[in-house]
Amino acid sequence: MARFANNSPLKTENQKKIGTPPPYGPVGVEAARAASSSSPAEPTLFKHEFSMADRVALVSGANRGLGLEMAMALIEAGARAVYCVDMPKAPGEEWTKVKEYTSRMKGLAGEGRLEYISGDVRNQEAMWKIGEEIGNTEGRMDACVAAAGILRSHTDCLQYPAKQFQEVMEVNVNGVLYTAQAAGRQMERFGNGGSIILIASMSGSITNKDHAWVSYNTSKSAVIQMARSMACELGPKRIRVNSLSPGHIYTSMTAAYVDTQPHLVEKWSSLNPLGRLGRPDELRGVVTWLASDASTFCTGSDILVSGGHHAW
Ligand SMILES: NC(=O)c1ccc[n+]([C@@H]2O[C@H](COP(=O)([O-])OP(=O)(O)OC[C@H]3O[C@@H](n4cnc5c(N)ncnc54)[C@H](O)[C@@H]3O)[C@@H](O)[C@H]2O)c1
Repeated sequence: MARFANNSPLKTENQKKIGTPPPYGPVGVEAARAASSSSPAEPTLFKHEFSMADRVALVSGANRGLGLEMAMALIEAGARAVYCVDMPKAPGEEWTKVKEYTSRMKGLAGEGRLEYISGDVRNQEAMWKIGEEIGNTEGRMDACVAAAGILRSHTDCLQYPAKQFQEVMEVNVNGVLYTAQAAGRQMERFGNGGSIILIASMSGSITNKDHAWVSYNTSKSAVIQMARSMACELGPKRIRVNSLSPGHIYTSMTAAYVDTQPHLVEKWSSLNPLGRLGRPDELRGVVTWLASDASTFCTGSDILVSGGHHAW
């Protein structure tokens, strides 16, 4: 089990007001200032700051879609293990393909384990247990991506049935909290800090034109505020919490709309300055940045990745 020595700068009580210096030594301008003209000059940005080397992560909704894409990115960034939690008893074909593919990668990525755990984010007790078991096995928990979410078909807001509203909230709000708790409790237990990324949506801060999605939009606003709120409570423990808000990205969730109403591709594309939908792989960089040391001063923020949808 990874434990830090009493004088380790990674321990909360040893932090200085300017934050914990990186354990791998000075980087950037500070590294250049500290170097003598004869010492080697090595880039650290991808080797250290963006690296997930030896880190452990939990990603919900990661049997497919954005969750799987982001889990794979963390493996490529060198994570020791990424635990994918999703509903099916066994992982799907796409997940299995990704596991096999990443295990053949050269370097640290090939050593990273993509693991699958069947679980329902609506079950708080079960989610806490999943977190605890990962902690017991790995001796640490460094990152969490709460990506499980659902979107229902158009429903008039004045007729919205209580049961359906509740169903969406249970996954998109309660489930996100239970996932963040599952990982956050382990981050607190091991004292190494950590990064929790709650997948919200641009629908948490704008309303999608002509779409009657009151439950989804409401749930995503709640996720954005949950991230801010948790960030404020957990900052002193060096646990960062941010929300990540994608725009329209083609996945099974959005395919339910665009595959049956092809004109929506044109319409959604016209709503952002880049004039297109996003691809799941376009979240690889931002999730790695948020999960790693590359973003150590970022917490309580909502990061929009929407092709500029908000800019108009
Ligand atoms: N695709 C987009 O355009 C888009 C845009 C903004 C935000 N998002 C958000 O990104 C996240 C991922 O969406 P996606 O597009 O990959 O959709 P998706 O439907 O492909 O993936 C969602 C995953 O969550 C899982 N899930 C659902 N309920 C669950 C539960 N109770 N417990 C555990 N897992 C559960 C599903 O099985 C599925 O694998 C969602 O939170 C979604 O709201 C998506």
